[in-house]
Amino acid sequence: GEARMKRIASSIRAIPDFPKPGVTFQDITTLLLDPMAFRDTVDLFVESYVPGRSKICGVEARGFIFGPPIALAIGAKFVPLRKPKKLPGDVISEEYSLEYGTDKIEMHVGAVQPNDRAIIIDDLIATGGTLCAAIKLIERVGAEVIECACVIELPELKPLEANSQITNLRTDFSN
Ligand code: PRP
Ligand code: HPA
Repeated sequence: GEARMKRIASSIRAIPDFPKPGVTFQDITTLLLDPMAFRDTVDLFVESYVPGRSKICGVEARGFIFGPPIALAIGAKFVPLRKPKKLPGDVISEEYSLEYGTDKIEMHVGAVQPNDRAIIIDDLIATGGTLCAAIKLIERVGAEVIECACVIELPELKPLEANSQITNLRTDFSN
């Protein structure tokens, strides 16, 4: 696993001062251009997956890149957690705070059911606010979040200290 984690880490590009001065943006588009690193990212998750009736919930937008290949590999259903006003059916939504203001994620009613075992996938955890909102959304419908998996963690922001709901996080690397 160690060599593959290194390949994943070195395939991710860090862009200084994006989207604003002082922020170093971790860009996974270069990982997607490296088929071995992309495959490793999916395989590392799939190899240590404990089988069980699970649903993969991907967070818009980059959880839609890593979630579906994982869902197909483990034979799980895929549920998109979307930004507001994108889903056409009845939704439940959960608000979360950003640096300035708030945002929301939404899920179709019935997509996750009571007693489902949900796994949340995203590319990156920064403050943890997005993941926390995703956990709340899924728990509100009576399902259990058995794991959150992100490729990258930004530990400087101490996302786990700030969000006690995130109890079961797996990341490929910290930066
Ligand atoms: C990024 C990232 C995570 C989230 C992490 O998405 O892909 O979903 O931010 O930040 P947090 O831990 O501080 O909540 P973004 O909100 O930029 O949306 P996008 O993928 O649609 O660009
Ligand atoms: N990369 C990608 N998404 C992000 C980042 C980052 O560094 N910080 C917050 N969201």
